[in-house]
Amino acid sequence: MTATPGDADVPDRVRDMVAARQQRLANVGADPQALAEQLRQVFEEFTELRMHYQFGIDEVLTKVEILRKEFEQMHEYSPIEHVRTRLKSVESLVEKALRTEGEMTVRAIRERIHDIAGIRITCSFVSDAYWVAEMLAAQGDLEVLTVKDYIASPKANGYRSLHLIVRVPVYLSTHVEQVPVELQIRTIAMDFWASVEHKLSYKYERNLPPELREELDDAARVADDLDARMERLRGEIRPMPAHDGGLFAQRPAPTAEG
Ligand code: GTP
Ligand code: MG
Repeated sequence: MTATPGDADVPDRVRDMVAARQQRLANVGADPQALAEQLRQVFEEFTELRMHYQFGIDEVLTKVEILRKEFEQMHEYSPIEHVRTRLKSVESLVEKALRTEGEMTVRAIRERIHDIAGIRITCSFVSDAYWVAEMLAAQGDLEVLTVKDYIASPKANGYRSLHLIVRVPVYLSTHVEQVPVELQIRTIAMDFWASVEHKLSYKYERNLPPELREELDDAARVADDLDARMERLRGEIRPMPAHDGGLFAQRPAPTAEG
């Protein structure tokens, strides 16, 4: 998964923020040795944190891969097209931890940042995106913490996707870690649009010229339309299983016309 738009200057900003903090610590007359010890400890905690989140990704990825393989072998059709994972870099994690303003302890950072571990699942059809979300949410050891349905309610810029934060248990040698993982589930058309939008936002640092903004708005409508047309063809490939309205009881029914 790519970094959030505007991440280009993250290293600079992080360096500045760290320097400012160091300055503040130095000003209160901190003992350099104690400071070094503190920094070493923080580094170790971050390394451990990232390891746990990587395990969280591994656990959820296994679930996704099992579904995909089962579908491919048993039904010769899988609602899952592509899967990508990403673990937030330390720089981007520290940047977000500072930006979201709170305690800089590992415990507090874990509590306020839920996208340290990310998995993006791409599907052919809109109904498959909901279906995959429902199948994962129904698994007993995955606890759904939040659901954001940007398909039913796209963002103002036209961004569409399903976002779920799920919590998965990771069994370590001495204890169980509950790790939140951000799932982004979307169609190929939504993914195509989001990836172009991300690249443009990155290039223009979010200040898109109006003509590009319009072009992107139009592309979002075209992607939406393509998804609707593909959805109508879907029945020819594989009828949707009966939908029991779990997580997304409110979602619009796929259109039957066409
Ligand atoms: P962060 O953006 O992660 O700080 O959190 P948030 O609470 O705003 O979450 P949200 O669910 O809105 O977005 C989480 C992730 O979805 C982002 O990090 C991106 O990967 C993706 N995303 C959200 N909005 C957009 C968008 O407008 N364009 C693109 N390309 N990706 C987006
Ligand atoms: Mg994010």
